[in-house]
Amino acid sequence: MGEVYTIVSGKGGVGKTTVTANLGIALTESFGYSVLMIDADVAMANLSLLMGLKSPPITLHDVLLGSSPAMDAVYDGPKNTKIIPSGLSLSTYQRVDADRLVSVVKELQSKFDYILIDAAAGIEKNVLAAMSASTQLILVTEPTAPSVADVFKTKMVAQRINQRVLGVIVNKTSNQKGEISEKEIMKMLEMPSFGKVPYAEDIRTSFLLKKIKPVMLHNPSGFSAESFRKIARRITGKEVETTQEKEKKGLFSFLGKIFKKKKKIKKK
Ligand SMILES: Nc1ncnc2c1ncn2[C@@H]1O[C@H](COP(=O)(O)OP(=O)(O)OP(=O)(O)O)[C@@H](O)[C@H]1O
Ligand SMILES: [Mg+2]
Repeated sequence: MGEVYTIVSGKGGVGKTTVTANLGIALTESFGYSVLMIDADVAMANLSLLMGLKSPPITLHDVLLGSSPAMDAVYDGPKNTKIIPSGLSLSTYQRVDADRLVSVVKELQSKFDYILIDAAAGIEKNVLAAMSASTQLILVTEPTAPSVADVFKTKMVAQRINQRVLGVIVNKTSNQKGEISEKEIMKMLEMPSFGKVPYAEDIRTSFLLKKIKPVMLHNPSGFSAESFRKIARRITGKEVETTQEKEKKGLFSFLGKIFKKKKKIKKK
């Protein structure tokens, strides 16, 4: 049975879709897992756009309306990912039964190692359905007071519906004065952090391209992409060295060698 993680935040625009898309790619690319991403933001769908899907004929709306089987709405995404896009039609959105998501996910769970559900912001009915469909939640917050306060509310809601939280991801960090540190966020929320993603130019611009794409594809060797790989590694518990860590190790062993040489010279 695969793990099902719903990516939730509380406050809007903090980076849930960005995290879902990049984490999904990191899980397939770096670890070879089979990953399905579900765009459960049934009102304001973004994920399929970010993943490069062009007007898919069958969407999550059709599945939630009971007019299509779930597997018919699964499409190929980049780097071997699979995606269930959300529909864009406002009229079908008004009729969808979000609670069906629980049984839809149950049906798909055995077919994938990981299912990542991109939820909408807030704590409305559709968000609760997306939360209930998962095995655990991953919270996303910006390092600011309003964002942390809102994600705290999400945590409280999760407790009320008996949904477990795996941990938090701190997105858009910039080391500015007044920013709440990752450590403080972990303390406030009483949960582990899977890591930080900086407020980064390559992520911002990945949304400004003619064909928008996740930063894992836009700038795969950059620091932002490495941050997502690191988060994926922590979530899966697998060890994969990031480029930065390799460079750091290389530097330390280089310094170590120089230090040893100096010691030898002194002894002589
Ligand atoms: N680490 C980052 N650095 C710079 N820009 C970022 C970062 N993360 C996200 N963004 C930008 O913030 C905006 C919102 O991101 P995203 O759509 O992922 O948020 P969301 O939480 O899914 O929003 P919504 O609540 O509307 O679903 C996008 O323009 C995205 O490019
Ligand atoms: Mg979103």
